Amino acid sequence: KRIALVTGGFTGESVVSLKSAAVVERHLDQDKYEVFKIIIEKTKWFHLAPDGQEHPVDLNDFSVSPQGQKITFDGVFNILHGSPGEDGKLAGYFDMLGIPYTTCDAMTSAITMNKGYTKAIIQDIDHLHVAKSIQLFKNSPENHDRVLEELSLPYFVKPNNGGSSIGMSKVKSAEELAEALDKAFAEDSQVLVEEFVSGREFSIGIYSCQGNIIVLPATEIVSSKEFFDFEAKYTAGVTEEITPGRMNEEEIARVNQIAAKVYQKLNCKGAVRMDYFLEHESSKVFFIEINTVPGQTETSLISQQVRAIGKEIKEFYTEIIEEMWT
Ligand code: DAL
Ligand code: MG
Repeated sequence: KRIALVTGGFTGESVVSLKSAAVVERHLDQDKYEVFKIIIEKTKWFHLAPDGQEHPVDLNDFSVSPQGQKITFDGVFNILHGSPGEDGKLAGYFDMLGIPYTTCDAMTSAITMNKGYTKAIIQDIDHLHVAKSIQLFKNSPENHDRVLEELSLPYFVKPNNGGSSIGMSKVKSAEELAEALDKAFAEDSQVLVEEFVSGREFSIGIYSCQGNIIVLPATEIVSSKEFFDFEAKYTAGVTEEITPGRMNEEEIARVNQIAAKVYQKLNCKGAVRMDYFLEHESSKVFFIEINTVPGQTETSLISQQVRAIGKEIKEFYTEIIEEMWT
Protein backbone atom coordinates (compact mmCIF):
# COMPACT_ATOMS: atom_id res chain seq x y z
CA LYS A 1 0.00 0.00 0.00
CA ARG A 2 1.09 3.57 -0.63
CA ILE A 3 1.51 5.79 2.42
CA ALA A 4 2.10 9.54 2.44
CA LEU A 5 4.28 10.44 5.41
CA VAL A 6 3.13 14.00 6.07
CA THR A 7 5.51 16.35 7.87
CA GLY A 8 6.63 19.99 8.09
CA GLY A 9 4.06 22.54 9.18
CA PHE A 10 3.39 26.18 9.80
CA THR A 11 4.79 26.59 13.34
CA GLY A 12 8.05 26.50 15.27
CA GLU A 13 7.39 22.77 15.75
CA SER A 14 8.10 22.06 12.06
CA VAL A 15 11.75 21.29 12.93
CA VAL A 16 10.51 18.72 15.44
CA SER A 17 8.14 17.24 12.87
CA LEU A 18 10.94 16.76 10.33
CA LYS A 19 12.96 14.90 12.96
CA SER A 20 9.95 12.78 13.92
CA ALA A 21 9.32 11.96 10.26
CA ALA A 22 12.90 10.79 9.80
CA VAL A 23 12.50 8.38 12.73
CA VAL A 24 9.12 7.11 11.53
CA GLU A 25 10.41 6.63 7.98
CA ARG A 26 13.31 4.53 9.22
CA HIS A 27 11.00 2.21 11.14
CA LEU A 28 8.09 1.76 8.73
CA ASP A 29 7.74 -1.75 7.35
CA GLN A 30 9.13 -1.33 3.83
CA ASP A 31 7.82 -4.76 2.80
CA LYS A 32 4.27 -3.70 3.55
CA TYR A 33 4.26 -0.03 2.64
CA GLU A 34 5.63 2.17 -0.10
CA VAL A 35 6.35 5.43 1.69
CA PHE A 36 6.38 8.92 0.13
CA LYS A 37 7.54 11.81 2.27
CA ILE A 38 5.34 14.87 1.80
CA ILE A 39 6.45 18.18 3.27
CA ILE A 40 3.85 20.86 3.91
CA GLU A 41 5.06 24.43 4.24
CA LYS A 42 3.15 27.71 4.18
CA THR A 43 4.12 28.45 0.59
CA LYS A 44 4.45 24.95 -0.92
CA TRP A 45 3.44 21.33 -0.49
CA PHE A 46 5.81 18.84 -2.09
CA HIS A 47 7.03 15.26 -2.19
CA LEU A 48 10.68 15.06 -1.25
CA ALA A 49 12.04 12.17 -3.30
CA PRO A 50 14.94 10.05 -1.98
CA ASP A 51 17.20 11.74 -4.57
CA GLY A 52 16.42 15.14 -2.97
CA GLN A 53 14.17 16.32 -5.82
CA GLU A 54 10.99 18.21 -4.88
CA HIS A 55 7.79 17.31 -6.69
CA PRO A 56 4.72 19.51 -6.11
CA VAL A 57 1.57 18.04 -4.59
CA ASP A 58 -1.62 18.45 -6.64
CA LEU A 59 -3.96 19.83 -3.97
CA ASN A 60 -7.06 18.78 -5.94
CA ASP A 61 -6.51 15.13 -5.06
CA PHE A 62 -3.36 15.09 -2.89
CA SER A 63 -1.43 13.31 -5.62
CA VAL A 64 2.17 13.60 -6.74
CA SER A 65 3.72 12.79 -10.10
CA PRO A 66 7.42 12.21 -9.50
CA GLN A 67 7.96 10.25 -12.73
CA GLY A 68 5.29 12.04 -14.73
CA GLN A 69 2.76 9.42 -13.60
CA LYS A 70 0.13 10.33 -11.04
CA ILE A 71 0.48 8.64 -7.65
CA THR A 72 -2.36 8.69 -5.12
CA PHE A 73 -2.27 7.37 -1.56
CA ASP A 74 -4.09 4.63 0.35
CA GLY A 75 -3.52 6.53 3.57
CA VAL A 76 -1.63 9.24 5.38
CA PHE A 77 0.77 8.77 8.27
CA ASN A 78 0.41 12.18 9.89
CA ILE A 79 3.47 13.26 11.85
CA LEU A 80 2.96 17.00 11.50
CA HIS A 81 3.00 18.63 14.97
CA GLY A 82 1.04 21.86 15.45
CA SER A 83 -0.85 23.50 12.59
CA PRO A 84 -2.07 22.24 10.14
CA GLY A 85 -1.45 18.59 11.16
CA GLU A 86 -2.52 18.60 14.79
CA ASP A 87 -5.30 21.23 14.79
CA GLY A 88 -7.74 19.51 12.44
CA LYS A 89 -7.10 21.49 9.27
CA LEU A 90 -5.42 18.61 7.41
CA ALA A 91 -7.90 16.15 8.88
CA GLY A 92 -10.74 18.17 7.32
CA TYR A 93 -8.94 18.32 3.98
CA PHE A 94 -8.32 14.55 3.93
CA ASP A 95 -11.92 13.87 4.97
CA MET A 96 -13.13 15.90 2.01
CA LEU A 97 -10.90 13.88 -0.33
CA GLY A 98 -11.80 10.57 1.34
CA ILE A 99 -8.21 9.74 2.27
CA PRO A 100 -7.75 7.86 5.60
CA TYR A 101 -5.16 9.16 8.05
CA THR A 102 -3.58 7.88 11.26
CA THR A 103 -4.62 10.66 13.64
CA CYS A 104 -7.76 12.13 15.26
CA ASP A 105 -10.62 13.56 13.21
CA ALA A 106 -10.98 17.28 12.52
CA MET A 107 -13.14 18.11 15.53
CA THR A 108 -11.08 16.18 18.08
CA SER A 109 -7.86 17.64 16.67
CA ALA A 110 -9.23 21.18 16.79
CA ILE A 111 -10.47 20.82 20.37
CA THR A 112 -7.38 19.09 21.72
CA MET A 113 -5.08 21.67 20.14
CA ASN A 114 -6.73 24.15 22.50
CA LYS A 115 -5.56 23.37 26.02
CA GLY A 116 -8.34 25.38 27.70
CA TYR A 117 -11.24 23.82 25.74
CA THR A 118 -9.78 20.34 26.29
CA LYS A 119 -9.71 20.85 30.05
CA ALA A 120 -13.32 22.01 30.00
CA ILE A 121 -14.40 18.75 28.34
CA ILE A 122 -12.43 16.23 30.38
CA GLN A 123 -12.44 17.81 33.84
CA ASP A 124 -15.41 15.83 35.14
CA ILE A 125 -13.72 12.46 34.54
CA ASP A 126 -13.47 10.55 37.84
CA HIS A 127 -10.21 11.04 39.76
CA LEU A 128 -8.91 13.55 37.22
CA HIS A 129 -8.02 17.06 38.37
CA VAL A 130 -7.12 20.18 36.48
CA ALA A 131 -5.07 23.08 37.79
CA LYS A 132 -7.04 26.27 38.33
CA SER A 133 -6.62 28.37 35.21
CA ILE A 134 -7.97 31.21 33.12
CA GLN A 135 -8.09 31.54 29.38
CA LEU A 136 -7.16 35.00 28.11
CA PHE A 137 -7.92 36.61 24.77
CA LYS A 138 -5.61 39.02 23.00
CA ASN A 139 -6.09 42.77 23.42
CA SER A 140 -8.27 42.55 26.49
CA PRO A 141 -6.96 45.30 28.79
CA GLU A 142 -7.93 43.52 32.02
CA ASN A 143 -5.92 40.31 31.30
CA HIS A 144 -2.97 41.18 33.51
CA ASP A 145 -4.99 42.24 36.55
CA ARG A 146 -7.43 39.34 36.23
CA VAL A 147 -4.57 36.87 36.55
CA LEU A 148 -3.25 38.54 39.68
CA GLU A 149 -6.71 38.72 41.22
CA GLU A 150 -7.99 35.26 40.36
CA LEU A 151 -4.93 32.99 40.55
CA SER A 152 -2.21 32.33 43.09
CA LEU A 153 1.47 32.42 42.15
CA PRO A 154 3.46 30.73 40.69
CA TYR A 155 1.82 30.39 37.25
CA PHE A 156 2.48 28.65 33.99
CA VAL A 157 1.72 30.96 31.08
CA LYS A 158 1.19 29.14 27.77
CA PRO A 159 0.02 29.89 24.24
CA ASN A 160 -3.30 28.05 24.32
CA ASN A 161 -2.76 26.36 20.94
CA GLY A 162 0.97 25.83 21.27
CA GLY A 163 3.28 22.86 21.50
CA SER A 164 6.78 21.88 22.60
CA SER A 165 6.69 24.62 25.28
CA ILE A 166 7.29 27.34 22.66
CA GLY A 167 6.24 30.75 24.08
CA MET A 168 5.73 29.30 27.54
CA SER A 169 6.99 30.72 30.86
CA LYS A 170 6.90 29.90 34.52
CA VAL A 171 6.06 33.06 36.47
CA LYS A 172 7.15 33.26 40.09
CA SER A 173 6.43 36.91 40.87
CA ALA A 174 3.84 39.47 39.75
CA GLU A 175 6.57 41.56 38.09
CA GLU A 176 7.31 38.74 35.63
CA LEU A 177 3.72 38.37 34.45
CA ALA A 178 3.55 41.13 31.81
CA GLU A 179 6.57 39.85 29.93
CA ALA A 180 5.31 36.26 30.07
CA LEU A 181 1.93 37.32 28.67
CA ASP A 182 3.61 39.25 25.83
CA LYS A 183 5.75 36.25 24.99
CA ALA A 184 2.76 33.88 24.89
CA PHE A 185 0.53 36.31 22.97
CA ALA A 186 3.30 36.65 20.37
CA GLU A 187 2.57 32.99 19.50
CA ASP A 188 -1.19 32.86 19.84
CA SER A 189 -4.32 34.99 20.20
CA GLN A 190 -5.34 32.94 23.26
CA VAL A 191 -3.24 32.36 26.34
CA LEU A 192 -3.79 29.95 29.20
CA VAL A 193 -2.55 30.86 32.66
CA GLU A 194 -2.51 27.97 35.11
CA GLU A 195 -1.67 27.75 38.75
CA PHE A 196 1.45 25.73 39.45
CA VAL A 197 0.90 22.23 40.81
CA SER A 198 3.63 20.90 43.03
CA GLY A 199 4.14 17.37 41.82
CA ARG A 200 6.07 14.95 39.70
CA GLU A 201 5.63 15.11 35.95
CA PHE A 202 4.66 12.15 33.77
CA SER A 203 3.67 11.49 30.21
CA ILE A 204 1.74 8.49 28.94
CA GLY A 205 1.11 7.15 25.45
CA ILE A 206 -2.33 5.83 24.51
CA TYR A 207 -3.46 4.27 21.23
CA SER A 208 -6.23 2.19 19.77
CA CYS A 209 -5.63 -1.14 18.13
CA GLN A 210 -8.36 -3.48 16.85
CA GLY A 211 -11.01 -1.83 18.95
CA ASN A 212 -8.97 -1.84 22.17
CA ILE A 213 -7.52 1.19 23.91
CA ILE A 214 -3.93 0.40 24.85
CA VAL A 215 -2.28 2.49 27.56
CA LEU A 216 1.53 2.34 27.49
CA PRO A 217 3.70 2.58 30.62
CA ALA A 218 4.10 6.20 31.75
CA THR A 219 7.41 8.03 31.56
CA GLU A 220 8.49 10.11 34.54
CA ILE A 221 10.22 13.33 33.61
CA VAL A 222 12.86 14.59 36.00
CA SER A 223 13.99 17.89 34.55
CA SER A 224 17.01 19.73 35.87
CA LYS A 225 15.47 22.88 34.37
CA GLU A 226 12.67 25.03 35.78
CA PHE A 227 10.20 23.12 33.57
CA PHE A 228 10.25 20.66 30.63
CA ASP A 229 11.00 23.36 28.03
CA PHE A 230 11.98 23.09 24.36
CA GLU A 231 15.64 22.44 25.12
CA ALA A 232 14.84 19.88 27.81
CA LYS A 233 12.43 18.13 25.44
CA TYR A 234 14.77 17.73 22.49
CA THR A 235 18.32 17.71 23.82
CA ALA A 236 19.45 14.26 24.87
CA GLY A 237 20.68 14.17 28.45
CA VAL A 238 19.12 17.41 29.73
CA THR A 239 16.21 15.53 31.26
CA GLU A 240 16.13 12.26 33.07
CA GLU A 241 13.30 10.16 31.67
CA ILE A 242 12.31 7.07 33.57
CA THR A 243 10.13 4.49 31.83
CA PRO A 244 8.13 3.01 33.47
CA GLY A 245 7.88 5.99 35.81
CA ARG A 246 7.91 5.52 39.57
CA MET A 247 4.27 4.98 40.53
CA ASN A 248 2.79 2.45 42.90
CA GLU A 249 0.24 -0.13 41.75
CA GLU A 250 -2.74 1.92 42.82
CA GLU A 251 -1.43 4.98 40.99
CA ILE A 252 -0.73 2.98 37.84
CA ALA A 253 -4.24 1.53 37.86
CA ARG A 254 -5.80 4.96 38.47
CA VAL A 255 -3.73 6.70 35.78
CA ASN A 256 -4.41 3.96 33.23
CA GLN A 257 -8.12 4.23 33.83
CA ILE A 258 -8.04 8.02 33.53
CA ALA A 259 -5.91 7.88 30.37
CA ALA A 260 -8.30 5.46 28.68
CA LYS A 261 -11.29 7.61 29.65
CA VAL A 262 -9.66 10.77 28.33
CA TYR A 263 -8.93 8.98 25.05
CA GLN A 264 -12.50 7.76 24.83
CA LYS A 265 -14.19 10.98 25.86
CA LEU A 266 -12.24 13.04 23.34
CA ASN A 267 -12.89 10.38 20.65
CA CYS A 268 -9.19 10.03 19.92
CA LYS A 269 -7.66 7.95 17.15
CA GLY A 270 -4.12 6.75 16.61
CA ALA A 271 -1.32 7.34 19.10
CA VAL A 272 -1.72 10.27 21.49
CA ARG A 273 0.19 11.28 24.60
CA MET A 274 -1.28 12.66 27.82
CA ASP A 275 0.92 14.78 30.07
CA TYR A 276 0.09 15.02 33.78
CA PHE A 277 1.39 15.72 37.26
CA LEU A 278 1.04 13.50 40.31
CA GLU A 279 0.63 16.01 43.10
CA HIS A 280 3.06 15.61 45.97
CA GLU A 281 1.49 14.03 49.06
CA SER A 282 -2.10 13.77 47.73
CA SER A 283 -0.98 11.80 44.61
CA LYS A 284 -3.87 13.40 42.73
CA VAL A 285 -3.61 13.24 38.93
CA PHE A 286 -3.51 16.74 37.44
CA PHE A 287 -4.07 16.76 33.68
CA ILE A 288 -1.72 19.06 31.76
CA GLU A 289 -2.68 18.41 28.15
CA ILE A 290 -3.07 15.84 25.43
CA ASN A 291 -0.95 15.78 22.27
CA THR A 292 -2.65 14.10 19.34
CA VAL A 293 0.47 14.07 17.14
CA PRO A 294 3.10 13.35 19.78
CA GLY A 295 6.79 13.64 18.98
CA GLN A 296 8.58 10.61 17.57
CA THR A 297 12.10 12.00 17.59
CA GLU A 298 15.07 10.09 18.92
CA THR A 299 14.50 11.65 22.36
CA SER A 300 10.70 11.33 22.34
CA LEU A 301 8.80 9.45 24.98
CA ILE A 302 6.37 7.22 23.09
CA SER A 303 9.09 5.08 21.55
CA GLN A 304 10.64 4.53 25.00
CA GLN A 305 7.23 3.37 26.22
CA VAL A 306 6.71 1.03 23.27
CA ARG A 307 10.12 -0.53 23.87
CA ALA A 308 9.27 -0.89 27.58
CA ILE A 309 6.46 -3.32 26.74
CA GLY A 310 8.83 -5.31 24.55
CA LYS A 311 7.19 -4.27 21.31
CA GLU A 312 9.20 -3.34 18.25
CA ILE A 313 8.68 0.21 17.01
CA LYS A 314 8.10 -1.17 13.53
CA GLU A 315 5.22 -3.31 14.78
CA PHE A 316 3.77 -0.34 16.68
CA TYR A 317 3.72 1.80 13.53
CA THR A 318 2.15 -1.06 11.59
CA GLU A 319 -0.61 -1.25 14.20
CA ILE A 320 -1.20 2.51 13.93
CA ILE A 321 -1.32 2.35 10.12
CA GLU A 322 -3.60 -0.67 9.92
CA GLU A 323 -6.01 0.97 12.40
CA MET A 324 -6.80 3.80 9.98
CA TRP A 325 -8.39 1.38 7.53
CA THR A 326 -10.64 -0.34 10.10
N1 DAL B 1 4.16 18.73 20.70
C1 DAL B 1 5.25 17.79 20.77
C2 DAL B 1 5.72 17.38 19.41
C3 DAL B 1 4.91 16.62 21.60
O1 DAL B 1 3.92 16.68 22.25
O2 DAL B 1 5.63 15.64 21.58
MG1 MG C 1 2.63 19.47 24.13
